[in-house]
Amino acid sequence: MDVRFITSSPDLKGRPEPILPEFAFIGRSNCGKSSLINHFLDRSKIAKTSGKPGKTRLLNYFLVEERYYLVDLPGYGFAKVSKDMRAQWKGLFTRFLGAEDRPLAVFHLLDARHKPSKEDVEFSKLLQNSGHPFAIAATKIDKVGTNKRLEHYEEIIETLGVSAEIPFFPTTSAKRQGRVEMLSWVDALIQAYEEAE
Ligand code: GTP
Ligand code: MG
Repeated sequence: MDVRFITSSPDLKGRPEPILPEFAFIGRSNCGKSSLINHFLDRSKIAKTSGKPGKTRLLNYFLVEERYYLVDLPGYGFAKVSKDMRAQWKGLFTRFLGAEDRPLAVFHLLDARHKPSKEDVEFSKLLQNSGHPFAIAATKIDKVGTNKRLEHYEEIIETLGVSAEIPFFPTTSAKRQGRVEMLSWVDALIQAYEEAE
């Protein structure tokens, strides 16, 4: 897979040219976002992972196969940030989802072990109202017993209040699962976009 890091930008102004479809990875801090991006891109270290939450602070753009951008956004809901920072993040997500000058689709990441938090629900509402295509990626499923997984997936879907048509990808970066399914959703959307051009 051909992947190039393009740029880091603190806000929308720094988004790269040319305009191509963007696939954003968004989720709670420490939900396994950077790990899933690395798994998805089949790279071990292109997105920085850490045991400490709050590592990603910018919009990071990666160009994939010269066809689309993968966008790594800061994780939300990190307990140790100020109210100010929280408001800034919400503003950033709102502007990012509100921008209509580029085709955008979103992977909303949720840690499969936990019931979605208040921030997860809040972000999902923004996403559902944005009109952009989105999918849910449940992360770290290797940490949930196989007999418990369906129950956890249902709890995520119900708590977020998303419709049954929304694609749902169970993933684990540790055990390397979910990549093929995510890629095929990306491919289908890009093809639809290229055909409409
Ligand atoms: P921030 O950028 O700091 O908000 O975190 P993030 O959402 O990018 O999470 P990151 O990928 O850095 O992973 C956070 C922690 O979860 C790390 O200790 C990872 O090793 C662990 N982790 C991530 N994905 C998986 C997974 O699929 N399975 C397991 N067991 N652990 C995972
Ligand atoms: Mg990260």
